[in-house]
Amino acid sequence: MTGQIQLQQLENNAVPDGLLWFQVRSYREVLAVAFAVHEINENPGILPNITLGFKILDSCLSTRLAMANTLSLLSGIEDPVPSYHCSSEPIVPGVVGESFSDITIPIAWLLGVYKIPQISYGSSNVILSNKYLFPSFFRTVPPDSAEAGAIPRLLKHFGWTWVGIIASDNDYGVQGSQRLQTEIERSGGCVEFLERVPIYQTKERVTQIVEMIKRSTAHIIVIYCHVGFIVPVFEEVAKRNIHGKVWLGTTSFIITPDLFTKDTWLSLNGTLALALHVVEIPGFKEFVHSIHPLTSTDDIFIKSFWEKAFECKWIENNTNQNNTEGGSDKLFCTGQEKVDQLDFALFELDNLRYTYNAYQAVYAFAYALHNLVSCRGDAGLSSIRTCVSTNEIQPQQVLEHVRNVHFLTGSDEYFFDENGDPPAIYDILNWQIFPNGSYTCTTVGKFDYTAPQGQEVTVNRSIIVWNSIYSTVPESACSTSCTPGFRRTFKEGQPICCFDCIPCPDGEITNQTDTICCQKCPDDQWPNEKRDTCIPRTIEFLSYEEPLGFVLSAISAFCSLVTVSILGIFLKYKDTPIVKANNRELSYLLLLSLVLCFLCSLLFIGYPMKVKCMLRQTAFGVIFSLCVSCILAKTITVVVAFHATKPSSKLKKWVGTKTSYYLVPLCSVIQLIICLVWLCTAPPFSSINTESAKTIIIQCSEGSVKLFYGMMGYLGFLACVSFIVAFLARNLPDSFNETKYITFSLLVFVSVWISFIPAYLSTQGKYMLAVEVFAILASSTGLLSCIFFPKVYIILLKPERNTKDVLLGKRGIKQTKMIMEEKTFLLTPEISRNSHQNKSCQCYVLRYVDQNVISSYLLYLTTKSTFREK
Ligand SMILES: *[C@@H]1O[C@H](CO)[C@@H](O)[C@H](O)[C@H]1NC(C)=O
Ligand SMILES: *[C@@H]1O[C@H](CO)[C@@H](O)[C@H](O)[C@H]1NC(C)=O
Ligand SMILES: *[C@@H]1O[C@H](CO)[C@@H](O)[C@H](O)[C@H]1NC(C)=O
Ligand SMILES: *[C@@H]1O[C@H](CO)[C@@H](O)[C@H](O)[C@H]1NC(C)=O
Repeated sequence: MTGQIQLQQLENNAVPDGLLWFQVRSYREVLAVAFAVHEINENPGILPNITLGFKILDSCLSTRLAMANTLSLLSGIEDPVPSYHCSSEPIVPGVVGESFSDITIPIAWLLGVYKIPQISYGSSNVILSNKYLFPSFFRTVPPDSAEAGAIPRLLKHFGWTWVGIIASDNDYGVQGSQRLQTEIERSGGCVEFLERVPIYQTKERVTQIVEMIKRSTAHIIVIYCHVGFIVPVFEEVAKRNIHGKVWLGTTSFIITPDLFTKDTWLSLNGTLALALHVVEIPGFKEFVHSIHPLTSTDDIFIKSFWEKAFECKWIENNTNQNNTEGGSDKLFCTGQEKVDQLDFALFELDNLRYTYNAYQAVYAFAYALHNLVSCRGDAGLSSIRTCVSTNEIQPQQVLEHVRNVHFLTGSDEYFFDENGDPPAIYDILNWQIFPNGSYTCTTVGKFDYTAPQGQEVTVNRSIIVWNSIYSTVPESACSTSCTPGFRRTFKEGQPICCFDCIPCPDGEITNQTDTICCQKCPDDQWPNEKRDTCIPRTIEFLSYEEPLGFVLSAISAFCSLVTVSILGIFLKYKDTPIVKANNRELSYLLLLSLVLCFLCSLLFIGYPMKVKCMLRQTAFGVIFSLCVSCILAKTITVVVAFHATKPSSKLKKWVGTKTSYYLVPLCSVIQLIICLVWLCTAPPFSSINTESAKTIIIQCSEGSVKLFYGMMGYLGFLACVSFIVAFLARNLPDSFNETKYITFSLLVFVSVWISFIPAYLSTQGKYMLAVEVFAILASSTGLLSCIFFPKVYIILLKPERNTKDVLLGKRGIKQTKMIMEEKTFLLTPEISRNSHQNKSCQCYVLRYVDQNVISSYLLYLTTKSTFREK
């Protein structure tokens, strides 16, 4: 066992017997104090013209002896008289030490009463930070609580959120591990298990702990324990071949090969640990090598050291006597032994962590004294800016200056905080074990509390050797982290580090890993497919630029041109019978309204401005009403004309042939009124529809839905009435079977609009508009083609049929004269196909003054129809 480990165990009151021997490690600290004093006395920059001295008292690891020594130090005489200073020498201005917390606590309490500053270089017990209990205590080693803060940051640095803790079942382990667990959880990590290793182990307990380690999924296990207690656990772990755990030790976890069996030792490859910070003390090695019992005569320990180091016996007034004496098998020391040839492991001059702290403690005192005698206080300390001569130095004055001391060693800043603790700086060590059992302990990084937040840990990852199964930084997490676009959902009854990742909900994103909440995208944006960033939504409306809008507007323009040309043709041939037939003016009006129908579809395309929105549906409603009422008027014209030719018709009396002229404005005005009411009360307006995720639809809202449906309903009603009238009149033998064409066109019209309803309701955005535009174009085209194309065909291509004669005698019978007569016929069954009896029938017949009169008669009889006189 090395001194270091024993030293650590001592903190737990388990002092092994072997420790009562001479301790080379502790002696190093004495040498460090001597070296520092020597350096300061040589240095003209600190305490010029003043020689610093020191006195060494050995507590011999005994609290009682330590207290006795302290009291005699206070009294100035060997047999202490409490509260009295019985020596001519000035009272000591300060104490360096002790290094073990248990012994330090009573000393610090006693020195606190007399306000004598004390700087310990090894006591890390947290209680010593309490300045009510220990007002004059300082230390150059960070308190244990600093470790509990450093380890979580180190875990965070490596991204380890899921760890196990094994702590010793004593004050150090219990308090420390609790603090550690709290800190880990505060920094967002989780502790999978916290096991306490009892000081006196039983096999069952060790097995239990190892089972826990085996079951655990954490790859990182923090050892908050002195290494001696945990050796059995490590041995069991190695025996069971548990691989893949990375051990992370605290400052007390200092391992050396001689503690372990070979297999166990090799399995500790890649272990990390915190250690007290150290920098090289220049010249110290040479100083150590130069010590010799003959030159360092003031050194009360040197002879013991020499005897232990060289395994010989030092004899006062060493005079090359015989090498053996009185049965002892030890050689006498010759004085020729060389310290620099000593076993390296004995002195461990490459590991001077506590030694360095002892060195710093002396410097802290030296700077404080320097400030005191050179009348220099730190800024803001005017009250203590008094010059004192070296003989009048009071410990209280030194205490004030120690409290405010501030100096640099190398690049490290040194000072004491309000609790008397130094800035917490740790080195991060990595044990790299070679297959032959040799090892190096490499400093791979540094933890510095004084660094800005988030930069406390600096690690050179490239030089870390991980446990052989890891080629790179191992991971330790309960759940793999959620990538951007996903958020965490916690599992019930499990620590917060265990979670599932679910994609962000619709309309929300996250661009960070491991978020708990996704953020909503701004209104004008929507999430991309991965949901890790918001992208602008496309603005959607039926524009002229896009193919759909372009095609529809082209069709509408083309159709209105066609309609205009038909109107032109009609105007040109206005005196031909076919144009004159069935009310020429109505035909013009119908064509004009059809042009408007086609053009009004353009209102649905393009950016929906306010005016466009207002005109859209209203213009559509009015124009289509006009159109349909023209058709209705045309149909009624035919019906009226037919019935009006009956001499006894009542229709003729009160309807007259001019009805159609009143019908058109009447029907259109009703629609116009509906639309005006609509525009005045709740006009349609341009609105933005953000319901759909990817797009912002700019659309026209109806304003008043009731009036919209009123308008549409009226139009539908008009169309239905027209259809019914046309259907009933479809067989009237008007010129060119116009009622048939009208019936058919209205059939097309009505079916287009009926099929429009489901199509319109099932689409959205611009397609909704496209459907409406399509319906407008289709129904208008239907009307145009059914009513006008046959006429245009005859006008342009069959002009020979565009005569009155053909108009009247459709079957090509050559007539010269017609006389309308009312006659009673006897319908024989042969004539009346549907009847078996003879019937008499009164018919209006046309008598042709022709050779084929009879056949003509029969023809018209069977069809029961008549011709209007033209
Ligand atoms: C130190 O002593 C020297 C010689 O006695 C003297 O010249 C010098 O001023 C002193 N320095 C201080 C800082 O007292
Ligand atoms: C890390 O260590 C390697 C090897 O010693 C060295 O070359 C490199 O510069 C170090 N990197 C940093 C950032 O210190
Ligand atoms: C320790 O790990 C290093 C790197 O993974 C490897 O090279 C070395 O052989 C290991 N030592 C033992 C004893 O397995
Ligand atoms: C995440 O988004 C926020 C705002 O949306 C932005 O400020 C931040 O820079 C983004 N972070 C990353 C890593 O993209």
